[in-house]
Amino acid sequence: MQIDFSSIDPRDAYGWLVSMIVPRPIAWVSSQSETGVTNLAPFSFFNGVTSRPPTLMFVPVTKIDGTPKDTLRNIEATKEFVVNLVSAELGEAMSNTAAALPYDESEFERFAIESAPSDRVKPPRVAAAPISFECRLETITHLGDAPGIANVVFGRILCAHVQDAVLDGEGHIDPAKLDLIGRMGGDDYCRTSDQFSIKRPAH
Ligand SMILES: Cc1cc2nc3c(=O)[nH]c(=O)nc-3n(C[C@H](O)[C@H](O)[C@H](O)COP(=O)(O)O)c2cc1C
Repeated sequence: MQIDFSSIDPRDAYGWLVSMIVPRPIAWVSSQSETGVTNLAPFSFFNGVTSRPPTLMFVPVTKIDGTPKDTLRNIEATKEFVVNLVSAELGEAMSNTAAALPYDESEFERFAIESAPSDRVKPPRVAAAPISFECRLETITHLGDAPGIANVVFGRILCAHVQDAVLDGEGHIDPAKLDLIGRMGGDDYCRTSDQFSIKRPAH
């Protein structure tokens, strides 16, 4: 079978790609409006980009009506955000925050998600997240045409908060304790608790 992405309907392209490119990490992004209303939403077109400079990216698409999602609107206005990572125990809370709330209503408050202050940026972190990255907006690259323009947000990672509970005895991340979830297609997720090693060639 072959899928021709140059002629396919965009909705079908989405359906194929989200069930093919799996698992995807989830950026649970906190942001804040200029008037101080906090916002929290998940994005799984997300990844690290490079460590020099420390950079990550995620992609809030423009809504079908042509308006930006709250996260994008806040980041364009304030240039700051936090990417919180999602452990299995936070999965349901994360999914709740995908609800399309009015711009002036905070997902932190609506879903009683405890926040913690950030150090370098104004938007708060998710207190229970195992890892949170405080980020400053680097640049936004727009791909495609309306409707559904992809806004690729590149963020410079200023600092990371790591819960002591996910560290091993030597102060390194213990992936089993981290227990992050990944997004599969539709409403499906996977856990990262089933791991194995593959040795690389020496040269
Ligand atoms: C696991 C998960 C991953 C998602 N990934 C994306 C994504 O990569 N891009 C996107 O635009 N929306 C994504 N969504 C949908 C947004 O979370 C949803 O549109 C949300 O209402 C946006 O919130 P905001 O308007 O407060 O920014 C995802 C939803 C879930 C549950």
